[in-house]
Amino acid sequence: MANDVLSPGENRARRDFLNWFLGTAAGAFAASVLYPVSRYLVPPKVEESTAHTVTLSIKPQELKPNSGQIFRFGSQPAILVKTPAGELKAFSAVCTHLACIVQYRSDISHIWCACHNGHFDLNGKNIEGPPPKPLEEYAVNAKGDQIVVSKRS
Ligand code: FES
Repeated sequence: MANDVLSPGENRARRDFLNWFLGTAAGAFAASVLYPVSRYLVPPKVEESTAHTVTLSIKPQELKPNSGQIFRFGSQPAILVKTPAGELKAFSAVCTHLACIVQYRSDISHIWCACHNGHFDLNGKNIEGPPPKPLEEYAVNAKGDQIVVSKRS
């Protein structure tokens, strides 16, 4: 029977271990919840493209009205849109929420991000969903068979 009774030192060591274990488990649980929530709320820093002008291999007449085409603008993806009215527009294709690649949806005639259902209008403005700011818009120049996309200064 005397073996079942813990000495005060053993009792304290057991309590310290239990406090440490519960404190660590609670801390790990809190971190596992808070980190994804903070990543969802705070947009990541996306490296800026160093390109200032890109000549596309797409010809203006190859793009149908109410459609979009992803292209590379330096090191970053970009999207060229031909609006239902036939106007050419270009934007960064990196979503301003968590940096997924956006796409053009002809069924709703605007730019959409599949990751968290973010929507951008044909001026790149964030109009629905979690994206906190508009897409960066580029200048588009269509001359003959060429489309030249440039950063706005
Ligand atoms: S990354 Fe979340 S809506 Fe685009």
